[in-house]
Amino acid sequence: MQERYAKIAGWGKYVPEKILTNHDLEKMVDTSDEWIRTRTGIQERRIRTENDTNSSMAVAAGRQALEKAGLAPTDVDLIIVATSSPDYLLPPVSSQVQHMLGAKCGAFQLGAGCSGWVYGLVVGTNMIRSGAYDTVLVIGSEIISFAIDYTDRTTCVLFGDAAAAVVLTASEEPTGVLAFELGSDGSDYDALIVPDAGSSNPLSQSTIDNRNGYIKMDGRRVFKFASRTVAQSLKRVIDQAGLLPDDIDLFIPHQANARIVEAGARLLRQPVDKFYMNIHKYGNTSTASVPLAMVEAIEEGRLKDGDKVAMIAFGAGLTWATVVVQMGVGEISPAHSLFSAARLNYLAKRTTNKVIDSVQMSLLPLYTWFVGRNKKK
Ligand code: UT7
Repeated sequence: MQERYAKIAGWGKYVPEKILTNHDLEKMVDTSDEWIRTRTGIQERRIRTENDTNSSMAVAAGRQALEKAGLAPTDVDLIIVATSSPDYLLPPVSSQVQHMLGAKCGAFQLGAGCSGWVYGLVVGTNMIRSGAYDTVLVIGSEIISFAIDYTDRTTCVLFGDAAAAVVLTASEEPTGVLAFELGSDGSDYDALIVPDAGSSNPLSQSTIDNRNGYIKMDGRRVFKFASRTVAQSLKRVIDQAGLLPDDIDLFIPHQANARIVEAGARLLRQPVDKFYMNIHKYGNTSTASVPLAMVEAIEEGRLKDGDKVAMIAFGAGLTWATVVVQMGVGEISPAHSLFSAARLNYLAKRTTNKVIDSVQMSLLPLYTWFVGRNKKK
């Protein structure tokens, strides 16, 4: 049987009109524009208006993606909506989105924290690769501001609302997701949590009194996890694709903190300008963050057909999800050809990288201690 691939055939985004700047937040909590910019890279974020719902934002992004691909909603075989902020606890927002779009297909909501959309991209891709479906719409939509305590300076400066989507279509050319890794480490489940909105602690008067219906985050714990995971997972998935970090044209990391991205770039020994960032405009839009960055990278001409892109998301769970994607059609990796100068060159560089990586990993605890020591001064 001919091998099938899942091409990224269309993309779309929706960001609410309302802008909340660092200076606006200075008037709400004890913070400063300087602290937020230097510690996170964020300058402003979008917050839903009264006209925006999770479903309406998902539909706007999904419709744009379908238009770009020249497809009608009735062409779609499956809709996946990744989110942590659906319109209602029940029903899944995916069914509202399917109905509002006018699609006639299955739809489900996917929850994997900020990693949800990348999880969805992998699931959608494999639904197509298996031959089950030809066209899958993968949306990430987040009104995360509903779960933010705007009296808590440790979280309210970080998050914003947005939606973004891609449509995947079956292709016989090598394209789309070439390699992936889906990860979860539930031992840190409480590092990023809304304590009182699920079945463990149903809503009650104490939820309101203790403000436990909002996101609580141990930022340092998540920061450490993310700084470790970004470079390590990217290395594994790039290797799995038969590529080297140098072969990646653009990295699209989760937009949670510019310092996490810079640390990842250093550990991968890649220039930081190969890492796309729009965190200054939107903050952390949770599951919409990676697809929104991808759509804007395409709009700005930073990502085009033929390019190889590596994307990584991480967040509540704690979860992470990493992919290497071929945009359009490109050259197959030299790792897959049997005997050639290109393959020998690839193998030599891969071995050198592995040696440097193992030295780097053994020095990492020393480096982390040194950075921590400097910070305390
Ligand atoms: O998508 C979900 C994934 N989430 C993340 O990836 C978040 C990862 N974590 C982070 O990005 C960072 O840990 C934060 C941005 C959340 C915090 O930055 P940090 O450099 O780790 O700061 P910190 O938590 O170590 O706090 C340093 C100081 C503290 O004061 P003391 O104890 O040193 O006196 C905080 O109380 O900064 C204080 N602080 C603030 N000051 C002004 C915390 N938030 C603020 C604020 N404005 N908004």
